[in-house]
Amino acid sequence: MKKVKKAVIPAAGLGTRFLPITKAIPKPMLSVLDKPTIQYIAEELISVGIEDILIVVSPGSDVIKNHFGPAEDLEKRLLEDGKQKLYEIERQTQRFNVSFAVQQTANGLAGAMLCAEEFIDGEPFALLLGDELIFADKDQTPCMKRLVDIFESTGKSVIATMEVFGDDVSKYGNIGIREEVDGVMEVSSIIEKPSLAEALSNNAIIGRYVFDGKIIDMLKTLTPRNNEIYLTDAMEVLANNKELLASTFEGTRYDVGDKFGYIKANVEYALRSEEIGADTLEYIKELAKRI
Ligand code: G1P
Repeated sequence: MKKVKKAVIPAAGLGTRFLPITKAIPKPMLSVLDKPTIQYIAEELISVGIEDILIVVSPGSDVIKNHFGPAEDLEKRLLEDGKQKLYEIERQTQRFNVSFAVQQTANGLAGAMLCAEEFIDGEPFALLLGDELIFADKDQTPCMKRLVDIFESTGKSVIATMEVFGDDVSKYGNIGIREEVDGVMEVSSIIEKPSLAEALSNNAIIGRYVFDGKIIDMLKTLTPRNNEIYLTDAMEVLANNKELLASTFEGTRYDVGDKFGYIKANVEYALRSEEIGADTLEYIKELAKRI
């Protein structure tokens, strides 16, 4: 059975919702606590042993490259000063085999995937959207592990899904379910960001996928709508051929592309921090009394 050894992270959004910070700093470098969001996403791949990562960036995103690259002077200084723990924290940024592709035009998610064609080279790959973080506790199965396990045991592309209600239904790709066996659903149909009336179910697509490499050729055959190729159109073809599965996941998802989601992520990661968790909790309790 085919193994998943590669991952693509589309991270070329301009981040206009976060202006002015995104004027000079690429959105994937926005920090949750002390780490850029893009590093959290790369770390989601550790549980599945994927180290070959392609990050699709917008032009002028050298700072992301620098983040994953060497830093000899800094390392030398940390070691000289006996700051071993900080040295190890810095070294963690270099554990991945990261390469980059530049998405010259803002032509959406499928456009970003087409920039990854050479890297994917017909092989299966994980796709992780740069605007979402998924935290798994020690006793939980990480979302990517769940998806890779399903792909490697069935050979079928698989996406992560969560239940959404009310107006939230229209914020996501939406899937219809043909059948469900042992928590793995077979997707019957897909509709991107439906109205409430159009929705097929309460199952939203979230930004974690594992695809067979052939999806790239499928994207190339699609006719653009509103000048954009839609990934969901290719997924619809897979669904019609009974070649697309979906699964819920354990853990907590944060939409860090949204200001409120970003703040929630910062608060919750601070609460989990060994260094400042207790102080943060005390502060929040005290703040709640005052407001
Ligand atoms: C994209 C996908 C959508 C999916 C969503 C998850 O939309 O097109 O199907 O539900 O990510 O976050 P975007 O949020 O980029 O508009």
